[in-house]
Amino acid sequence: MDIKLAPSLMCADLTHLAADLEALEAAKADYLHLDIMDGQFVPNFTLGPDFLKAVRSISSLPVDIHLMVERPELHLQLFDPQPGDIVCVHQEATYHLQRLLQTIRDLGAKPAVALNPATPIHMLEHVLEDLDMVLIMTVNPGYAGQKLVPASLPKIRAMRQLLDGANPDAEIEVDGNVSFANASRMGEAGANIFVGGSSSIFHPGFTIDEAMAKLRGCVIFP
Ligand code: DX5
Ligand code: ZN
Repeated sequence: MDIKLAPSLMCADLTHLAADLEALEAAKADYLHLDIMDGQFVPNFTLGPDFLKAVRSISSLPVDIHLMVERPELHLQLFDPQPGDIVCVHQEATYHLQRLLQTIRDLGAKPAVALNPATPIHMLEHVLEDLDMVLIMTVNPGYAGQKLVPASLPKIRAMRQLLDGANPDAEIEVDGNVSFANASRMGEAGANIFVGGSSSIFHPGFTIDEAMAKLRGCVIFP
């Protein structure tokens, strides 16, 4: 499965967003990952619909919209999903997941489901064929700079096995403390889309170009 890098824009230099987006495009980022938070589902606020509009006006890269919000079905249209975009909702945040995934697909975007660290993979048992991607949260969502939840590594492997049986083309994304070292372990466990934040792509010790190359080198296995 192709390796894809999805820079987490909440970790970008928001005072020089255009420059960061230009550097990310030059470094061949696959998606722009937007963490949307409502202060309810997670105890933080970050990016919103106007930020997404600004990003779309500068960059032609597809977006990977991570809705860490209660009842995402109520807010979907605010983000104007486009063909090629990923729209990722939390299994824990909606009452009618299968209908929501169908709605996202009817809008032309790729439907995806995120699982918090404590949520078992079997909560997705009856929607495995309705999704294009599963996001395995490798930290408890809400803030950048957190540490990997160790139990999420075997969870990635188990999710890959479950998908291989029901929907082999479905991808696995990981999000949270995707550091250079952790990314290798996450890739070996079966992840193929890596959300890079302060631990890697926006690590203060590297330029975006250096960090993207370094991260790619950690997850592409000979
Ligand atoms: C999880 C966070 C991550 C974060 C990744 O809620 O939103 O997506 O941006 O950054 P680091 O690498 O700091 O975990
Ligand atoms: Zn995210």
